[in-house]
Amino acid sequence: MSEMTQVAAKLTIPVNNNPEKPHQEYELELSEDSYGNLFIDADSINQLGNTRILFKDTKGMRNTAADESKISYIKPSGNNDNGVPQGILLYRGFDVKQLATHSTFLESSYLILNGEPPSKEEFKQFSDELKANRIIDKQTEEVINQFDRQTHATTIMSAALASLAARYEDKYNMASDEDRQELAIRMIAKMPTITAHILKHQQDQRTVSPDEELGHAANFLHMLFSTQAKKVVSDPKHIKVLDMILTLHAEHSFAASTFVARTVASCGTSTISCIIAALTALSGPLHGGANEEVVRMLEGITSDEIPDIINRAKDPSDPFKLFGFGHRIYNAMDPRAVVLRELTMNIIKESHEEKPSDILKTAILLEEAALKDEYFINRKLFPNVDFYSGLAMMTLGIPTNLFPLIFATARTSGWLAHIEECRKSGASIYRPNQYYTGWKFRPIGWP
Ligand code: CMC
Repeated sequence: MSEMTQVAAKLTIPVNNNPEKPHQEYELELSEDSYGNLFIDADSINQLGNTRILFKDTKGMRNTAADESKISYIKPSGNNDNGVPQGILLYRGFDVKQLATHSTFLESSYLILNGEPPSKEEFKQFSDELKANRIIDKQTEEVINQFDRQTHATTIMSAALASLAARYEDKYNMASDEDRQELAIRMIAKMPTITAHILKHQQDQRTVSPDEELGHAANFLHMLFSTQAKKVVSDPKHIKVLDMILTLHAEHSFAASTFVARTVASCGTSTISCIIAALTALSGPLHGGANEEVVRMLEGITSDEIPDIINRAKDPSDPFKLFGFGHRIYNAMDPRAVVLRELTMNIIKESHEEKPSDILKTAILLEEAALKDEYFINRKLFPNVDFYSGLAMMTLGIPTNLFPLIFATARTSGWLAHIEECRKSGASIYRPNQYYTGWKFRPIGWP
């Protein structure tokens, strides 16, 4: 892995209203990341004497690297698959497509959290500890059961996590590496149980306890779909599909929710509270809530209406966006979408249910129409992970309003790794400046 290197650069800044000295020159440092991307080193601005210069980046911080990280890397556009440009996503240097195919979610989680893949012994210990911590306490169950069954699942999950915080946060010393690690394992273990409990509550059914004999994804499906009366044994292909979905969602650099998790961690706030904050960010329709919106959008149209929906998405006076399209970092096909598209097609080919296959047909036609349209071509808008993830989850029988929770359950591993990275690096509090355009000082003048 290459180290950060420093290259000197000059910044010439015009000085307004000073004919004698129209420019001021500053020596700035340029930083190069592991992939050779260049960054103006804003930290070196502190050395510019009395002149205070800040970067103005008011379009969602798109030109700002908010911190250093070693967890995952996104290459916006990379290798071409069948002529379609495709991005690359690496977890600790390993390609997510290979991890999803050849590894398991728990192995990827271990890798994301610890920086290296586990040895056999390390993996056994990790998965045994996770199994031992799957159960949730009575108080958390009761909090979930208090909610109206129509309440959105992410709202219920926030409250369930607040209940876990009440139970655990005083018990763990956030300054202790061991305590934080133990809490991280508890969180990864309990997220599927909380998700399943929420589903059972919404369906007015009794919860199903975790099964020690089953691996992570198999147990998740068991808790979602078995009942007190009947144990459902999932098809190994479905178990692999869920495991792949979880792996593909486990980490994604400084996504909005991860940035929120890091921001809250930088304030010294405890781990579960960081995750609650991240979850609320994730639930928005432009982020992790998009998977739900994609399926609702596809369910609401027929293939004849595709031109209308594309026209709506292109209309600048209409706030509607084509859900599952576009990405802040990728300007090519999202590699996770490529895997999920294939997975969904395969599983639908083998199933005999009409509903998902009808929606899949609409999805494929919509994708084709958008990829041919000048508006999408010019803006480099391609399908993102959410375009096919909802469909993939639907093929497993997971209800739509649970999709963001499945995403959050997986992303908990990434959030935890980032929270840990922040704490270990002793990150300064995340407190950006602002570009102030309001009133200058004015005295109070009203009677
Ligand atoms: N449909 C129509 N137009 C779009 C879309 C879309 N889905 N996405 C971007 N654009 C347009 C946008 O209006 C802008 O047009 P113009 O240049 O004429 O103003 C141009 O493309 C550039 O987009 P942007 O607004 O600079 O994009 P952004 O980086 O600020 O936003 C995004 C990224 C993902 C929020 C956005 O693409 C979007 O809203 N997509 C739909 C929601 C979605 O699928 N979200 C899931 C994201 S991936 C998973 C995750 O991170 O959770």
